Amino acid sequence: MNVIQTNNYEALSQRVADYVQELVGAKDQPVLGLATGSTPVGFYEYIRQTQPDWSHVTTFNLDEYVGISPSHSQSYRTFMEKNLFSNISVMASYIPDGQAHDLTAECTRYEQLIAEQGQIDLQILGLGHNGHIGFNEPGTSFQSRTHIVDLAETTRQANARFFESIDDVPTQAITMGIQTIMEAKKIVLMVSGHDKQHAFNRLMEGEVDEQFPASVLHHHPDVTVFVSDVG
Ligand code: F6R
Repeated sequence: MNVIQTNNYEALSQRVADYVQELVGAKDQPVLGLATGSTPVGFYEYIRQTQPDWSHVTTFNLDEYVGISPSHSQSYRTFMEKNLFSNISVMASYIPDGQAHDLTAECTRYEQLIAEQGQIDLQILGLGHNGHIGFNEPGTSFQSRTHIVDLAETTRQANARFFESIDDVPTQAITMGIQTIMEAKKIVLMVSGHDKQHAFNRLMEGEVDEQFPASVLHHHPDVTVFVSDVG
């Protein structure tokens, strides 16, 4: 696990953008795994500003809420349109369909779509306060593939700031599984802010434990952690 400390959030965002762009520029048909949440917003902003050619890029998002429409203001599809796709054209972008009639079938379909691409070249992750990656909450099997999750109450509370009230925060999501994430060739974990200090320190302790999902990354051969402002 390679850990890169950066001076501030802006520097972190730029470093990640440069890292991602180096891969995107070097490959014929790169496949990126993308995250939502507040941490990657600066990275997306930097990509929008620099306007690289991503017309050969295929993207897969980590997760989507269950039960809200893609056009809902807080859906992850809307987040991605606003932060990236409205300004940057990609070859194809995939996000799980949280309104699918058969959610289990949707999980299988999403895994198949990824498998058809071979492998995700680079997966971007944020770090949950409880160590979640994607929406894989503590206790999720390291063998899990794309699945439906009941969101932890703490995760719903953390995300309530984006909704009118906590009651509007969905209770379920579809997320890539931990095994799905681990099959990416490279992984970037972005960690920023004092509120992530505890989770970051726990990750750095190095103990691998299903009760702290991000710890699985110690078993991946190519992880870069970009960090700012956790101290
Ligand atoms: C988002 C995702 C989540 C977030 C995590 C951190 O697609 O999968 O795991 O990365 O909750 O969120 P922020 O960046 O808002 O602190």
